[in-house]
Amino acid sequence: MPVTIKSNSEINKMRLAGKVVAKTFEHIRKNIRPAVTTEYLDKLADEFIKSQNALPSFKNYRGYPASICVSINQEVIHGIPSKRKLCDGDIVSIDLGAILNGYHGDAARTFIVGKTSPENEKLVAVTQQSFFEGIKFAKAGCHLFDISAAIQDFVEANGFSVVKDYVGHGIGTQMHEAPEIPNYRQNRRGIKLESGMTLAIEPMVNIGTDKIILQSDGWTVITADNSYAAHYENTILITDSEPEILTATDF
Ligand code: MF3
Ligand code: CO
Repeated sequence: MPVTIKSNSEINKMRLAGKVVAKTFEHIRKNIRPAVTTEYLDKLADEFIKSQNALPSFKNYRGYPASICVSINQEVIHGIPSKRKLCDGDIVSIDLGAILNGYHGDAARTFIVGKTSPENEKLVAVTQQSFFEGIKFAKAGCHLFDISAAIQDFVEANGFSVVKDYVGHGIGTQMHEAPEIPNYRQNRRGIKLESGMTLAIEPMVNIGTDKIILQSDGWTVITADNSYAAHYENTILITDSEPEILTATDF
């Protein structure tokens, strides 16, 4: 499938969908604290997305049973909400998507519950910053895999590893569109970026090995060495200058 270039009216719809995702994070954020179940966070997000006249895009996506993914500690991505309670010191990655008027927004954040170790704090900060290092190359005229290389270089310079088995993606009328966006160096620079492309850039970073294991629930991905992992994602718009972060949050 070719990479789609969004028209101005499509871009406006992407902005509105991205805004719903951002506002959902802002809405659930204060509830991310010890003793809260991940199921409760899912319910809050689900209800909020619907209150915005949008729909949670993850629900039933390839049979996924919830509206958000909640991945705690050594869980990398796609953790299923449950009766599990958050604990002080946990790091919890929340990934969520919304569809509004036929267009998708998709983003992830990793939150610290209460107080955690300096190493976990560094992991969360490096993961977020790796996204921003990557998008320094997210502009018309640059090449897609310049983003990938910048993410990997920053993460590895900080002593962590990037997950190779899952990638970012184009996004628009589908949650997953072309192109695939790996978070590590490729042997070519990839397609030339053009104004009007909308991309979900999503580094997944492990403290230890980059190897991951799929749990028997068919969804939850954990690190092979049980080291902790973090995830950070935004939907962005390529422009002739700085990218526009369509899912930007106020935190
Ligand atoms: N946000 C994820 C992605 O970018 C999708 C989650 S998978 C789902 O690929 F099944 F939960 F939707
Ligand atoms: Co995504």
